[in-house]
Amino acid sequence: MALELPANFNIEKIKKLNIFENPLKMFFPKKMVGIDVGTASIKIVEISRWGQGKTLENYGEIKSVSLFKEPFRNVEKGSYMLSNYFVSRAIRAVLDEARIRTKGAIFSIPDFSTFCTSFDLPPMTAKELNDAVYYNAPQYIPLPVTETTLDWKLISGIPGDKKSPLRIFLVAIPNQIIQDYQKVAQLAGLELYAVEAEALGLARSLVREKKGCICVIDIGAQSTTINVVDKLNLKKSFSFDFSGNQLTYSISSALGLGHVEAEELKNREGLISAKEEISKTLYLLVDPLILETKRVLSDFYQQENKDVDLVYLTGGTAALPGLKEYFQEILKKNVEIPNCFSELLYPPILGRTLENMAPSFSVATGVALGGLEI
Ligand SMILES: Nc1ncnc2c1ncn2[C@@H]1O[C@H](COP(=O)(O)OP(=O)(O)OP(=O)(O)O)[C@@H](O)[C@H]1O
Ligand SMILES: [Mg+2]
Repeated sequence: MALELPANFNIEKIKKLNIFENPLKMFFPKKMVGIDVGTASIKIVEISRWGQGKTLENYGEIKSVSLFKEPFRNVEKGSYMLSNYFVSRAIRAVLDEARIRTKGAIFSIPDFSTFCTSFDLPPMTAKELNDAVYYNAPQYIPLPVTETTLDWKLISGIPGDKKSPLRIFLVAIPNQIIQDYQKVAQLAGLELYAVEAEALGLARSLVREKKGCICVIDIGAQSTTINVVDKLNLKKSFSFDFSGNQLTYSISSALGLGHVEAEELKNREGLISAKEEISKTLYLLVDPLILETKRVLSDFYQQENKDVDLVYLTGGTAALPGLKEYFQEILKKNVEIPNCFSELLYPPILGRTLENMAPSFSVATGVALGGLEI
């Protein structure tokens, strides 16, 4: 489910990602670029499709600190800190460096710029469903509908079955945000194929089990999302105010260190640091995240009567030493750091490098894969 651009955006290349709505299967692109403009870095992947197989053609990343002092995006401003022009130049630099020539691109939209919810509708036919979603959506989203683009997916129930209530997962994105991405794509010489909420990209690149429920937690530099995916369907997505940057700032002020030194210490020693000041500082910040995860899982159990079987940690901060083990100990569930590249073909020599980078690339990979779905 990638968000289509509304017709009034006057974009020539509006294509549907749902094959059932597009009989011209052969016009599906063979290559797609996925772009995640994160706070700490911009991640770009290029993936190609041949039959059922997919190949990681190229990838690249540019860290904001290497270019500018400011992060690429910022919660307070809703979108970027930097101008569209600078973001597009940074993207162009990665594309050139990684020799990515594919023009079609899908951008992920950050969790703090999207609104996700789910709601029930009474039994109805598939034909009635679209209108019913748009008619009912305004009561579930806190944004003016006229300034918002909506995307939705049926996550349970059977249209046409008179006894089957229908559950809808709805994503709302402010039009201004979409316009920003259109501008960035254009300035970077790309053709915007679609935009998609981060959480949907994550679910696609990491969750392959058709059975069971998985909680996917993405911990980036500025924000965290806790998502529940049930049988490949994203059912819940919450944004939470926990971030890798916050961990670095706390170490830096607790130990009186500069940012670079504090960042290095955090990444190298993390929760298992022999220095009590470091581990204590980090535990104090990690505990609320675990509590929040517990709350999401228990709410999910109450609403759906289903237990989450597995927890995935992703995003750069997933690599914090000791974090996976601590989650496992407190939640008493299997916790893994999945590799978003593991189902793709790539030269084996890159295996170790890609494994280390994978947590930061989950979103970019997922949105690129969305453009290649058949
Ligand atoms: N080994 C490590 N241990 C702990 N944290 C790490 C490690 N490696 C990277 N990080 C942290 O990961 C963060 C970057 O992760 P990521 O690339 O997922 O962020 P982002 O997508 O740019 O941010 P956001 O999604 O919040 O906008 C930084 O805060 C960095 O300090
Ligand atoms: Mg991110």
